[in-house]
Amino acid sequence: MTDVAQPSSAQDVRDWDNTFNMHPWESMGTAPADRMIAARGEGIYLIDPDGRKYIDGPGGMWNVQVGYGNAEIAQAMADQAMALPFNSPWYFASDPASQLAKKLTELTPGDLNWVFFTTGGSSAVDSALRFMQFYNNLKGRPNKKITISREKAYHGSTYLAATMSGKERDRTFMDAATELVRFLPDVSPLLRPDGMSIAEWGDEKIADLENLITDVGAENIGAFIAEPILASGGVIVPPDGYHARTLEICRANDILYISDEVVTGFGRLGHWFASEEVFDIVPDIITCAKGITSGYAPLGAMLVSDRLVDELKAEDRGDVMFSNGFTNSSHPVSCAAALKNLEIMERDGVLEHVREITPYFQERVRRLERFDVVAEARGVGLVGAIEGAVAPADASEEDRLRIDYEFGARIDKACEARGLIVRPSINMCVFSPPLVITREQVDDMFDILEAAIAEVESSLTSRDL
Ligand SMILES: Cc1ncc(COP(=O)(O)O)c(C=O)c1O
Repeated sequence: MTDVAQPSSAQDVRDWDNTFNMHPWESMGTAPADRMIAARGEGIYLIDPDGRKYIDGPGGMWNVQVGYGNAEIAQAMADQAMALPFNSPWYFASDPASQLAKKLTELTPGDLNWVFFTTGGSSAVDSALRFMQFYNNLKGRPNKKITISREKAYHGSTYLAATMSGKERDRTFMDAATELVRFLPDVSPLLRPDGMSIAEWGDEKIADLENLITDVGAENIGAFIAEPILASGGVIVPPDGYHARTLEICRANDILYISDEVVTGFGRLGHWFASEEVFDIVPDIITCAKGITSGYAPLGAMLVSDRLVDELKAEDRGDVMFSNGFTNSSHPVSCAAALKNLEIMERDGVLEHVREITPYFQERVRRLERFDVVAEARGVGLVGAIEGAVAPADASEEDRLRIDYEFGARIDKACEARGLIVRPSINMCVFSPPLVITREQVDDMFDILEAAIAEVESSLTSRDL
């Protein structure tokens, strides 16, 4: 019998983690990472091995909608694991997967009435892109395969999904299927020239799409993929009407519109899905994951319209199949977690709560602009971001990056010392707490953040720059 070694201290955990566990976006630097250890969670709080409580500002990774320590979800998962922990999605129908598929189609906009379960967001995006390829192959359009994506987009970490991601830093040492993608310029209104209105900026971004379609040729473009708000790219909210206008252009050019709701789905903006309720579009495909289980189990889904599936069924010659799927597609324990999560969100009025608390949350976000070191504070729903502005205008690119990293790291440290997890991305801090956060807890979170920013602002001297 082999013994499984038990760590005898938090330091063991950290050492073993640094020695054996390669994390996502692992730095190949030689200094050991100094990651916090989260031992437990309770509501909106993470608790370290010494019992210290921290508000979880990022809400896991924008996904712990109903908060930590939910006994009902844990019980539903345990019950399902005892009844049947796994069944092949190839050969069996299962109760939790069929129930969840039916439930999801009641929550989706328009005729998005088919659900393809995946293991997370990346595999949902991959499946959507492979579905587009399959669709065009069947329709006899083998060249209509390029996808239009956008700078600063993030769509996942599998090869095809990563290919669609437009975050420059993530591509530095990594390959991508570049022949399958074209990127539109950043839509962030912060980048518009002096004197240009946001509406004019929006017109320009629409023209970017039209021009790209003209350049590449609609006959070569299969899909347009867009997050309703560019989430990990910096909480970029596009100008009003952007999504409706891009959808119209896609429809006119027979280009499938994929709305990547991995972050915005399941309540983050106060609705099950943001596409129709917030941005007034019914896309052809929605991809989702994260909040579907509140992070209690891995699960994702691609939601496809009746229109597309009906078109494919009409092409059926008896030998056509969508050869895509995963051992853990429709995983029963994940589906049971999702069903209980959705039931709790409905029963406890979580979406209503998000809509009610959003104006106050956003007011507290905007208030952060009073600090000189904050260039912009922005957001929508229960998502907010601040972007630091500390590097002098004439700093070199290298200096700017160094200073930006330093700014993020100092905010992180100052927040953590006060009981708030921030985890900045370079010079940006994003807030997407559990959706059950109360008004008092919103105050606690932003009070800590303001104190931390004030400390960092006063600690910055010309020597730092
Ligand atoms: C918009 C978006 N799409 C896709 C993904 C990938 O999801 P996952 O990490 O579950 O594979 C993410 C992850 O953050 C995301 O933000």
